[in-house]
Amino acid sequence: MAHRIDEAYAIMQANDRGGYTIPTSRLYPYQWNWDSAFAALGFAAFDRDRAWRELETLFDAQWPNGMVPHIVFRRDDPDYFPGPSVWQSNTTPPSSGHSQPPVATSVAKWLIDSGGPDDIERARNLFPAIMRYHQWFHAARDPHETGLIAITHPWESGRDNCGDWDAAMARVPVDHGLGDYKRRDVSHVDASERPTQAQYDRYLSLVAFGQRTGWDHLEIYKTGPFLMVDPGVHFILMQADQDLLDMADTLGFSGDMKAIKSWITRYANADIQLWNSEIGTFTAMDLKSREQVPAITNASFLSLYAGAGTTDQTRQTVEHLRAIQANCKVGVPSWDPRHQDYEPQRYWRGPVWAMINYLIVLGLERCGEPELASELQAETLKMIEDAGFYEYFNSKTGEGSGGPDFTWTAAIYLAWTVGLEAQNADRKAS
Ligand code: DGY
Repeated sequence: MAHRIDEAYAIMQANDRGGYTIPTSRLYPYQWNWDSAFAALGFAAFDRDRAWRELETLFDAQWPNGMVPHIVFRRDDPDYFPGPSVWQSNTTPPSSGHSQPPVATSVAKWLIDSGGPDDIERARNLFPAIMRYHQWFHAARDPHETGLIAITHPWESGRDNCGDWDAAMARVPVDHGLGDYKRRDVSHVDASERPTQAQYDRYLSLVAFGQRTGWDHLEIYKTGPFLMVDPGVHFILMQADQDLLDMADTLGFSGDMKAIKSWITRYANADIQLWNSEIGTFTAMDLKSREQVPAITNASFLSLYAGAGTTDQTRQTVEHLRAIQANCKVGVPSWDPRHQDYEPQRYWRGPVWAMINYLIVLGLERCGEPELASELQAETLKMIEDAGFYEYFNSKTGEGSGGPDFTWTAAIYLAWTVGLEAQNADRKAS
């Protein structure tokens, strides 16, 4: 085991563009928000200064309103579409117009927990920007203070073509002004592993809508054609709020604690609304139709990571996880394999994602399932050992899919292997 550590380091270094990291060359040639957060976790295994730098460059792209965009375009690259000229963010550096799951906060907290005075210093400098990011999320994505955090584009979830969005996306009108455009993703990766053309038309229609509002997020929330609750963003922000509260306490930002506590209190109401009692787990919800999506995804299991729900809801969620794992060669799949729409090879419609498994492992440890956590961690490491550092993995065969030499897969591998080795060495020494 763990014979690919050098390769993982090499991938992180090859994808480093000097202060920020791209997910993989050609397919994703810019800085992505949650990719960078996981990259920081990987860098922390061998270079803590570089780990902080990754977070700092991400927050350098923060908008005046506090939003941290999902893509930062530092230079135009013809390998990617849609680039800065489509988004027209009017920001420096140019960026996309919505956000992505805010994993960065929790990575900053993990760096503090495992670090020393230098980490405290770096965190203290970054804290005000992180706080403003959370303020933006709660104000722009939950303006009615319901505790349910919305997304306004499937790309904001990071789980682009997941079946969670199908019904709502079918209602998004295709913008007639799109004209002919040339997708670049399908010239780097086989089309069977990517979203369909019909989905792309709607992704771009949503971008065109946002761009027409001048990226006015309250307007997009109120009148935009797509508004859903993604359990991924919702639970990742919920955990990030808890981590932000701890950071405020540790770093001496006590004046911010009241606001953070009020966000945390709101989630109790959200848990009740987001629980899908027909299925017995948390699923996505359309905020326009109030319909709940009738299928389980790997994001459903992030309730465990955030410590959401009652003891009985946790029990039911863990039971689903066991049943789903029994239906796959490798898990956790991004769509329930018992469901008719399962596609084990296509992006977020069935493949396995190592960085989501990383969060689920934390969740299983948190909810008192250490054996299941160890099994999932070992299975994920073996999957990477066998297939390589792919973007995601076919859940029926374990084969690597999407982009190769992928930063977040290398990062998770390093976080676990180097971390585990260090723990073992500590145990032997003591
Ligand atoms: C893409 O281009 O596929 C990205 O996931 C959008 O963020």
